[in-house]
This record gives sequence, C-alpha cells and structure tokens, in this order.
Amino acid sequence: MLLPTILPGPLRPHPPSLFHGAHSSLVEQRHRPQREPLPPFDMKTLLLVGATGLVGQSVLTQALADSRVARVVAPTRRPLPSQPKLENPLVDFNALPAEAPWWAVDGVICTLGTTIKKAGSQPAFRLVDHDYPLAVATLARRRGTPVFALVSSVGADAASRTFYLRTKGETERDLRALNFPSLTILRPSFIGGDRAERRPGEALALRFFSVLTWLIPRRYRIVPSGRIAQKLLADALAAAPGIRVVESESI
Ligand SMILES: NC(=O)c1ccc[n+]([C@@H]2O[C@H](COP(=O)([O-])OP(=O)(O)OC[C@H]3O[C@@H](n4cnc5c(N)ncnc54)[C@H](OP(=O)(O)O)[C@@H]3O)[C@@H](O)[C@H]2O)c1
Repeated sequence: MLLPTILPGPLRPHPPSLFHGAHSSLVEQRHRPQREPLPPFDMKTLLLVGATGLVGQSVLTQALADSRVARVVAPTRRPLPSQPKLENPLVDFNALPAEAPWWAVDGVICTLGTTIKKAGSQPAFRLVDHDYPLAVATLARRRGTPVFALVSSVGADAASRTFYLRTKGETERDLRALNFPSLTILRPSFIGGDRAERRPGEALALRFFSVLTWLIPRRYRIVPSGRIAQKLLADALAAAPGIRVVESESI
C-alpha cells in the first residue's frame, strides 16, 4: 500500500468540524469589506489534476473559457503554457505539498490515469489511478473542499477479478469514504479524441467501435473527451449534494 507514503498523515475521512471551519472562513472572507472589487459571488475556484491528458486538456480549456470560473489551479509534473486565470504549480505526485494554500478550492476535478503498459507494472499503475487521486482528494478535503469529480471507467468494481476494473472500483470506494458533500463519478467507455501519444491497441479498438457503433450497446460506445470534460465541469460547478455515478451512456 503506497498511499501512506504519499500522504503527510494517515488517510482518514475528513472530520466535519474541520470542513465547517474552513467553509465559514471562506464565507467570512467573501463578506469582509474589500478595497478591490470581488468577482461575482458565484465564481468558483477549481483544482484540476490530469490537465495535460486528453480529458484534462479539454477540462482546462473549457474551465478557462467559462465565466463562472475565477481561477483554475492545475498541478502538473511538466509546465503548462501560461494563461490568464491559470495557476500551474509543478509538483511531484509522490510528495505533494500538503501545506500549499491552493488545496482550498470550491471543487476538484480529477482526470489522472495511466495504462498498465505505460506505467510498467500493476503497482505503478495503481499508484497513478488510485493512490494519487486519493492523495489529492484527502488534501483538498482537509482544507474543506466540498466537491470532487472523477473520471473512472465503465465496469469499475472493487470486487472485479480484472485488476484494472478492481483498481478503478477501489478508487471510487475510497473516495466515497472521504465524505465529500458533492461527489461525481463518471464511468466512460472508450474515450475518443486526438491523442498525441500512440496507443495502437486502443486506436484499433476505437476504429472498430466507431465503424460498428450501431451494433454496440450504448454503454460501450465511444465517448468524446470533450463531452466528458463538459460533464465534469458542469457537475463540479453545480455542486449538487450527494453522490452521482454517471454511466457511459448518460455522459
Ligand atoms: N482511454 C480510455 O479510453 C479510457 C476509458 C475509460 C476510462 N479512462 C480513464 O479516464 C481518465 C482520463 O483518461 P485520459 O485518456 O484523459 O488520460 P491521459 O490522456 O493518459 O492523461 C492522464 C493524465 O494523468 C497524468 N499522469 C499519468 N501518469 C502520471 C504520473 N506518474 N505522475 C503524474 N501524473 C501522471 C498525465 O500527466 P503527464 O502528461 O505528465 O503524463 C495526464 O495529465 C483516466 O483515469 C483513464 O484511466 C480512459
């Protein structure tokens, strides 16, 4: 279990008292007399992890163009082009800066992920698809962040016999335990879009699925990355209470 080595403290559900404290200080700040004009009251700050990926890039573009978003914090391991409204801390996901002020946001969107082939081993895959998202969620939750939206996968199931689906299911399960007031889990099938990286197996499957779309049940059809990004952003901004698991055909 690698997670405890990433987190500065034990992974545990966030105590409600800490959350309430952080939230009320945010409200107080908003009502404090200001010399500079405040952004509209409903403008949100978002933390996005995975901003360099296929879905993450689309979330970033949409969020930066959205007038409801005041600021996007996108920690990455390689720098993003600088843009207005974007804060881009360079981080090592194995040693996330627990004390950074930017964990305190209105919502987190997580599009982190890798493949077992790219990661090189099952433990290395689990680190990126389970431990990193959980570390990010825990640190944001400790700062009172009330909203989390995750890209998981069709078939995610903590009891699955398939390692990939079991890992995705365990990530969902462990995220639920952090008690975010608003949690969205998207479970897309194949993700379509212009991927810079070559993934021949995935490209072949995508071609097969796009030619035979009409034969394929709706749950397993290709979902464009832009649509997933749109749903993540919409749900993160709506911050509806409770847990939503959105299956592929409903994204
Ligand atoms: N591809 C599909 O058809 C499919 C289907 C269902 C679900 N999903 C899931 O959907 C999510 C988003 O998919 P995607 O295609 O947008 O992913 P992607 O293009 O591969 O992007 C993955 C993101 O995770 C980051 N990442 C990967 N390894 C990392 C590491 N060791 N340390 C720090 N960051 C790391 C990447 O950063 P770098 O740019 O720095 O590498 C990138 O920002 C993933 O969780 C994936 O498992 C994918």
